[in-house]
Amino acid sequence: MGQLDGKVAVVTGGGGSGIGHGICRVLARQGAHVVIFEIDVEAAQEVCRQIEDEGGSATVVLADISRSDNVRQAVEMVVEEKHSLDILVNNAGIGLIRPVAEANEDEFDRLAAIDLRGVWLCCKYAIPHMRRQKQGSIINIASVHSRATLPQFGIYAAMKAGVAGLTRGIAVQYGPDGIRANTVSPGLVDGKQTREIVARISDDVEAYLEDFVHSEQALPNLIQPEDIGNLVAFLASDGGRMITGAEIPVDAGMWVQLSSRR
Ligand SMILES: NC(=O)c1ccc[n+]([C@@H]2O[C@H](COP(=O)([O-])OP(=O)(O)OC[C@H]3O[C@@H](n4cnc5c(N)ncnc54)[C@H](O)[C@@H]3O)[C@@H](O)[C@H]2O)c1
Repeated sequence: MGQLDGKVAVVTGGGGSGIGHGICRVLARQGAHVVIFEIDVEAAQEVCRQIEDEGGSATVVLADISRSDNVRQAVEMVVEEKHSLDILVNNAGIGLIRPVAEANEDEFDRLAAIDLRGVWLCCKYAIPHMRRQKQGSIINIASVHSRATLPQFGIYAAMKAGVAGLTRGIAVQYGPDGIRANTVSPGLVDGKQTREIVARISDDVEAYLEDFVHSEQALPNLIQPEDIGNLVAFLASDGGRMITGAEIPVDAGMWVQLSSRR
């Protein structure tokens, strides 16, 4: 028996090789039916196939989370077809690596539309159903950048701090309706996007990552997508029933380390 048997979980951005993939697989292994909201339907279908091969169940809905009509229709479809929406994981996000004074308005607006407004839209349309059910668990994926950041990451950091604030607001507003909301803040997680970013700053991705885990983290291993999935599954389960409004890092000890070990 899984700790999420019979639950319906929406995961945004569950396609590809990143964190969403890890979250979907762990939730499905714990018995949840996973619905992936994605713009990359092909990648999400591949994740569904992997989940089905492992004996789980998952489906894909084409939905751009930055578009209100897409999100509203996708949420309605889930509730109509599955008759409930128990878990919402807002994972989809894009990055922006630009100094604050050099970014243009289009870059800012695009990031805000997906990384903050998109998270809000998914919550906005899911919460009424969760209130009717008198239960629900929302888990928003922010980043260690919500509280400590690096040069060039200021605007991304602002969005992620916004996600954590939004999550606290949902927790206090809708706790009386049985809805919990928590933020999970990953450190550097293995995946395609991470490796592409690293490739822009280093010719040797493996060597860079090896050095990173030894110098910037307390724990000397690269965080894997399923490490994030494990915390998400716990927060979504009855084991997390008294946890709400929290922001929990899965960062191998990055936040608590005062300086690089280099
Ligand atoms: N990778 C990391 O090290 C890391 C660290 C901290 C936080 N995060 C956060 O975790 C989340 C996932 O990051 P990742 O690195 O796994 O990313 P990723 O690029 O591997 O996956 C993101 C997925 O979101 C989808 N997506 C993008 N825009 C969308 C939209 N408008 N509507 C629906 N789907 C959309 C993409 O198609 C993609 O499959 C992001 O919110 C990111 O900010 C990542």
